[in-house]
Parts: sequence; structure tokens; C-alpha cells
Amino acid sequence: MTGTITLTMIKPDAVSKNHIGGILKMINDAGFRIKAMKYTQLSKEQAGQFYAVHQDKGFYNDLVEFMSSGPIVAAILEKENAIADFRKLIGATNPANAEPGTVRASYAESVQRNAVHGSDSDENAVIESDFFFSKVERF
Ligand code: CMP
Repeated sequence: MTGTITLTMIKPDAVSKNHIGGILKMINDAGFRIKAMKYTQLSKEQAGQFYAVHQDKGFYNDLVEFMSSGPIVAAILEKENAIADFRKLIGATNPANAEPGTVRASYAESVQRNAVHGSDSDENAVIESDFFFSKVERF
């Protein structure tokens, strides 16, 4: 199958609560193919680099602290219309506004501890995928 890609992270809150399996099942059931995947922990420097686009925001330091606080699962997902379909699957950034049945409605705690990341554009999906994965780690 070919399609477009999105980059997701299962964030430290969801990993620490043993929700990796539940979230991957939702991803597979929604028709996404896992093109690359790794279990890793970001350093503060790496988390800061990943979220550099938000460096002027008031929540940036807390976000970097949180995202480097424990292991994450990073994955490249492939599907037709991957960006929009994945954002629909995960729901609104703030879980209080996430539709029932979405990943964040099911597993997120707060706007910061919101269980998963999803790329917001095709361009950022490529940048974020290159951040985590080399060519030989993609299938
Ligand atoms: P994510 O999709 O990973 O992209 C940027 C992250 O910043 C977002 O999920 C949230 O976890 C976090 N974020 C966005 N807005 C806020 C906010 N107002 N307060 C705290 N964290 C935020």
C-alpha cells in the first residue's frame, strides 16, 4: 500500500500508564500501516529541537520537560490522507474538546499530557520523520 505519511509519538504519560498496546490497536484498526517504529527517550535537547516551532510559546519549557521525562514510542504511519485522518483519529489537542472514541478522549489527561502527537502537515511529517528515522529503518 502506498499513501502519505504522518509522524506520531505515544507520549510519556500514555507509555507510563501502559497504553502503548491500546493506542497501537486503534492506529491499526483505523487503517494506518506502521512504516517505522522505535521505543526511545528524548533528551531535553532533542525534545527542544523537535518542538522548536513552539519555542516562543509560554508552554514550551514545560512541554520539553514533559516530553523528555520518560520513554516514548515514535512511529511513521502510512495511509491515504494520513495527516487529516490521523488528526481525526486522535482528536483535539485538548482532550476536553476531543470527540468520544478518539485516542485523546480515551487516553489523554490534559492539553500537555495528551497521550499522542500527530504531524500537522505533509511538510512537517517529513521533517519529523527524518528527526527519528534513517532510510534503512523504514519499511
Ligand atoms: P502536540 O500535538 O504534540 O504538539 C504540540 C504540543 O504542545 C501539543 O501536542 C500539546 O501537548 C502542547 N500544547 C499545545 N498547547 C498547549 C497549551 N496551551 N498548554 C500546554 N501545552 C500545550
